[in-house]
Amino acid sequence: MTPSHIAIIMDGNGRWAEKRSLPRVKGHAAGAEAVRRTVEACREMGVKWLTLYAFSTENWKRSKTEINFLFSLLGKFLEGEKANMLKNGIRLNTIGDISGMPDNIVKKIRAIQKATAPLSGLTLTLALNYGSRDEIIRAVKKISSSKPADTQKAFEDALDTKGMPDPDIIIRSSGEMRLSNFLLYQAAYSELYFTDTLWPDFGKKEIEKALASYASRDRRFGGY
Ligand code: IPE
Ligand code: IPE
Ligand code: MG
Repeated sequence: MTPSHIAIIMDGNGRWAEKRSLPRVKGHAAGAEAVRRTVEACREMGVKWLTLYAFSTENWKRSKTEINFLFSLLGKFLEGEKANMLKNGIRLNTIGDISGMPDNIVKKIRAIQKATAPLSGLTLTLALNYGSRDEIIRAVKKISSSKPADTQKAFEDALDTKGMPDPDIIIRSSGEMRLSNFLLYQAAYSELYFTDTLWPDFGKKEIEKALASYASRDRRFGGY
């Protein structure tokens, strides 16, 4: 069965570039193309939710040059993809503390979110300035003054992922086998898939391999 929600930790851009004796930013530029291919492949396969880890709360540790390049790339991606999203029924969504992102990016995101809000094909969620620990702490602050009857529901509604199903599968490229502060609460019963392929080499074939692996899994959720 095709998973309803695929979440991806897009990793390995820097190593892809280093292998080619290119500056790291070239890896990010190639990574943006992989994002386009992946969104297209998921849409074609009828996936309803695709969540991409694009910038973590820890990625601020990187150089200003690299961070600025990533943001300018994101700005270009959003501008370049708006028409495609509208044409193909792709709804844009974000998780993470967007208020910490540059104003021009926030403006672009808000505009596309508004324009694509009625669409019901694929929901593309970009995790930006996202970290699970930050998300959980913000959620706890939101509900701490209330005394909800159903604490689990109130807590889940206070998470950035409110209204989203938990990921069925979390894919990580580049051979690293960790979650790096991504969807820690939501990953409780997600299937995990790791591949050595570096993110800039990612595309339809890799998604197909991940989904073939997913199809062979026995999801028991604590039952039989
Ligand atoms: C992933 O590639 C992109 C982001 C984290 C934004 P990396 O930049 O982490 O690439 P490696 O891990 O250094 O190869
Ligand atoms: C995770 O990759 C973050 C994103 C893909 C945005 P990192 O490259 O930042 O993770 P670590 O540092 O290897 O754990
Ligand atoms: Mg990395």
